[in-house]
Amino acid sequence: MRAIGEMNKKDVLKIIQKQGKWRHECLNMIASENITSSWVDQAYQSDFAHRYAEGVPYKRFYQGAKFIDELEDRTNKLFAKQLKAKYGDVRPISGAIANMAIFGAFTQAGDRIASIPIPAGAHSSHTEGGVAGLLGLKTSSLPFDNEKMTIDSEAAADKIVETKPKMVMLGASLTLFPFKISPIKQACEETGAVLVYDAAHVLGLIFAGKFQQPIQEGVDFLTSSTHKTFPGPQGGLIVGNHSWDTIQNTVFPGILSNHHLHRIPALLMAGLEMQEFGADYANQIIKNAKTLGAELDKQGLNILGKTRGYTESHQIVVDIGKEGGGRKVAESLESANIIANKNLLPWDKLSWETVNDPSGLRLGVQELTRFGMKQAEMKTVGELIHRVIIGENPEKVKKEVVEFRADFQKIHFTWKS
Ligand SMILES: Cc1ncc(COP(=O)(O)O)c(C=O)c1O
Repeated sequence: MRAIGEMNKKDVLKIIQKQGKWRHECLNMIASENITSSWVDQAYQSDFAHRYAEGVPYKRFYQGAKFIDELEDRTNKLFAKQLKAKYGDVRPISGAIANMAIFGAFTQAGDRIASIPIPAGAHSSHTEGGVAGLLGLKTSSLPFDNEKMTIDSEAAADKIVETKPKMVMLGASLTLFPFKISPIKQACEETGAVLVYDAAHVLGLIFAGKFQQPIQEGVDFLTSSTHKTFPGPQGGLIVGNHSWDTIQNTVFPGILSNHHLHRIPALLMAGLEMQEFGADYANQIIKNAKTLGAELDKQGLNILGKTRGYTESHQIVVDIGKEGGGRKVAESLESANIIANKNLLPWDKLSWETVNDPSGLRLGVQELTRFGMKQAEMKTVGELIHRVIIGENPEKVKKEVVEFRADFQKIHFTWKS
């Protein structure tokens, strides 16, 4: 007999199955998610999941690491090469941990860092409420151009020269367009600030050469997670051209002990996959996002970045304030099996109230694209989203979503199995 609320082994498996079935019947449009191929999945499930390898390849503190040495060294080199840097470190177990390492390596409690304003998309790890604050850092915001939906680089450069932050963090969870880096780089050189690009959202596009190339454009370091537009296992990385001992020592022993070794061969597999298929995948993501933006605009919604063609990335951002706000719309969409998230917009005042019910909706097309959807399907997706937003019964739309999604179950941009 089981007490109420207890679970047995079959219950656990049942819930996992329910999740898999449900998400394969959904339009998954959270911009920070993706799905891995069967090749990456195969590389993920291995004996490495049970092991430790403290240190860096070929200089470990434990025995038993000869095979992870080879794989991790190759993965570091593959990402460094593809992102145009000298060094790579794939040990950070997430994007936030990669940011913690970069803060830890170059700042001390009481220092100031500058980043994008929170309502304009700074990630929590860049803020005083997140990793930066935990390390005792003060933060300030760089000027943001709400019309162009990017940093006002010239004004930002002036502010950097005036306020002299220790570090400047570019990159955001709302990323529609590349940043103009050169004026900011110049200001950082003048003041000695470390310039970091957080590529978490757009790593796949950068890796494929279809977005800006931050290291070539002069940033000191690029941090990232490995599972948004880059369809790898969940994890993080850092690449850069200098101070590499400092970075490596901050990752271990500074932050990590075990770096979750089973991620590494899966990340290498995803890297090889993206070297072969990444350019086509990234091109299709960008075409799809632009098409979805145009379709939702045609339906009468207020799409940000309209004057610039809506987006150059995988994201579309909608000002949904007049249609009931982000929380209500995201919940209605979920009832129709369309999974997206509410989001602050640059003009939202920052408070717990607005965080819980912001005026924006963020939509990512990277997973739909991976399942083979193209521009024609984006029009259908746009119509389905719009129907929910204007108040059609989500249960009715859900039936159509499930039917539509049934034709897009195979993962594209990978090798035949
Ligand atoms: C810009 C940015 N940086 C860092 C992160 C953190 O990445 P992770 O969730 O891998 O810790 C995110 C997550 O969404 C992000 O959007």
